[in-house]
Amino acid sequence: MRRLLIVSNRLPVTVQEKKGDLHVEPSVGGLATGLSSWYKSRDSIWIGWPGTTGKKIKRGKDILEKLLSANCHPVSISQQDVEAHYHGICNRTIWPLFHYFPLYAEYSEGFWEAYERVNTAFANVVAGIAKPNDIIWIHDYHLMLLPKLLRERLPKATMGFFLHIPFPSFEIFRLLPWRNQILEGLLGADLVGFHNYDYTGHFLDSVHRLLGYEAAMGQITLADRIVRADAFPMGINYQQFSSAVQDSKTHAERKRFRKKLGDCQVILSVDRLDYTKGIPQRLEAFSAFLERNPKFLRKVILVLLVVPSRTRVGRYMQLKKEVDGLVGEINGKYGTIGWMPIWYLYRSLRFHSLVALYSLADVALVTPLRDGMNLIAKEYTATKTDGKGVLILSETAGAAQELGEAIIVNTNNHEELVQALTKALEMSEQEQIEHNRIMQKRLRRYDVVRWADEFVDKLLNTKKLQQEMKEKTLTFEMQRKLVNAFKESNNALLLLDYDGTLTPFSPKPVDAIPGARLLTLLEEFTRNPRTEVVLISGRDKDTLEKWFGSFNVGLVAEHGAWIKEKGGGWETIEALTSDWKEEIYPILESWVDRTPGSFIEEKEFSLVWHYRKANPKLGEIRARELINNLSNITANLNLHVLEGNKIVEVKNTDINKGRAALKCMSKEEWDFILAIGDDWTDEDTFKALPPTAWSIKVGFGASAARFSLSSQSEVISLLRKMVRRR
Ligand code: UDP
Ligand code: G6P
Repeated sequence: MRRLLIVSNRLPVTVQEKKGDLHVEPSVGGLATGLSSWYKSRDSIWIGWPGTTGKKIKRGKDILEKLLSANCHPVSISQQDVEAHYHGICNRTIWPLFHYFPLYAEYSEGFWEAYERVNTAFANVVAGIAKPNDIIWIHDYHLMLLPKLLRERLPKATMGFFLHIPFPSFEIFRLLPWRNQILEGLLGADLVGFHNYDYTGHFLDSVHRLLGYEAAMGQITLADRIVRADAFPMGINYQQFSSAVQDSKTHAERKRFRKKLGDCQVILSVDRLDYTKGIPQRLEAFSAFLERNPKFLRKVILVLLVVPSRTRVGRYMQLKKEVDGLVGEINGKYGTIGWMPIWYLYRSLRFHSLVALYSLADVALVTPLRDGMNLIAKEYTATKTDGKGVLILSETAGAAQELGEAIIVNTNNHEELVQALTKALEMSEQEQIEHNRIMQKRLRRYDVVRWADEFVDKLLNTKKLQQEMKEKTLTFEMQRKLVNAFKESNNALLLLDYDGTLTPFSPKPVDAIPGARLLTLLEEFTRNPRTEVVLISGRDKDTLEKWFGSFNVGLVAEHGAWIKEKGGGWETIEALTSDWKEEIYPILESWVDRTPGSFIEEKEFSLVWHYRKANPKLGEIRARELINNLSNITANLNLHVLEGNKIVEVKNTDINKGRAALKCMSKEEWDFILAIGDDWTDEDTFKALPPTAWSIKVGFGASAARFSLSSQSEVISLLRKMVRRR
């Protein structure tokens, strides 16, 4: 098994100073707790910030040995940089912004400089440790520049990145002054993972809008390689939590807690003290619940476990005051001698104490305002070995996408929260068991091991794909061979697609007019009697005629519906009908109505719905819907629905570029054939070619072509070399 380097800001253990002595304690927070059991099962090293300065570690007795023996490699960060990086940009800018608290986000150039410095320090440490065969897995928002910085140092590295917090929608992300640098940083990885598809979609959307890279099926094509983005909902160590319920240490703790809580029903709330967790809203809902349900007074207790977090950041200090105040108010208002409605713990608990609380709680109130995943909800469910217990979960926690059987609430809807509490406390045991069993089955199957393994598998698979693509690249050496073969040939046929191959795409197809340089290039080819050029396009014949009619080239329009041989006139391949258009046109029109920016292009034998100018995400969704819709209708009409680059086209089944290519090839004996195309309508051409022909796909991705070139401009430079050398 290959060695794994896990890189995150926080190590799974944190060095803490107590009464002047340094201690190594387990870290809290989903990233550290979730991954720490898994990484121990592998040959791995965890690289991160130990929570204190390098100087102190050097002074502390045995601290470094303790860290190293836990396979933890500390990265030394100066106190000044910790201030501006961890307490600054990470927790005062990125954290609030990515959790949809834009008004809390502070933007400071000084913070940003520290972000660059700390990411660079990490890059230097990781590059010093990494060996060629290692898998590098970088985690979370503190290190979003690291993939790019490492790629510069280790171009061949196998490197994944996982974001443990939400990736916000474009409208929020764009507020960040350094948004492009962050995206470029992330694209240094081979695979970028998120907890769910919404976050993945937001990321791809931002990459498209800010950097201009489009993604197909989560795959982004850069100039030199592909990067994938995908969703991997993080799981927990299910077995560890469910089996710990029966452990003697847990028993003892449960007994201790029960003694304190009496025979009250228990509502449990566990979070780091963070404004994203919705703790004040939860307390207010609990207060309103008691107000409206006096029968529950002295019968129910809210155990409020709040783990200190980021205590040097102002917003967290304010929140502490607010929570303290609310707890005091509620306890003062409803408490009686011998019963306090809230049992407030401001500290972190060890594993068995936490499991004891989970397992005795009748209800878990997990209502963050926004949370990347939320492992508390999953851990609580895993400890319900007898199936009893109710989870109330907010819809804005990533975990809600997997735990749909919980009582799902909108945390901002006070009324809904109050009602959820009543419903949970009164739910029948049978119903509780039914819901929990379904969720448990899912959590058991997709546990943290499966999560991490799937991520690593996909990363290795991406690497393999990159390798295959690289092997297909038309290298300079192969280009030289191609040019020589062309030069030596006596009868050469060039089948060239137009849009995306000879010319870049424009938002409006009518604007993609051939430029003077392209026309000159074509003319140079046509001057040579030993070469025949055929432009094989999806465009209508009038446009091709207008642009290239005066050139001595062959033209194929509408994906092969029309052919004009060199020096000849336009002909259809066979008798084709277009009566079907009457039926299809209104459907496309309704799609235009529902998709601003889209439009219909009518060709003689086909209809095309274009959505290049529409909102990219909406366009993709509508295209999917349209294809589904049309496939039902077109099956009996001998029509074919094809998906091109930002288009959906309906045409006769018998038409395709491959048939047109065959016709061109059958005309004469060719001793050199070259076909170039960029989208999947060109695949028919590639498939029709004899094995000796040269075929080139523009862009990466599965293709029947023998070679690939990464961009349209490379096609032009290849064609230039061909005319130059002949
Ligand atoms: N946790 C802990 N001790 C405590 C309370 C919580 O170790 O006293 C752990 C808990 O088991 C969970 C993690 O902290 O794994 C919290 O993760 P979550 O994803 O819910 O929230 P995050 O802190 O990552 O925002
Ligand atoms: C969240 C973040 C983690 C972070 C944890 C605890 O889970 O995604 O990256 O480690 O909170 O926060 P802290 O600031 O203490 O590291």
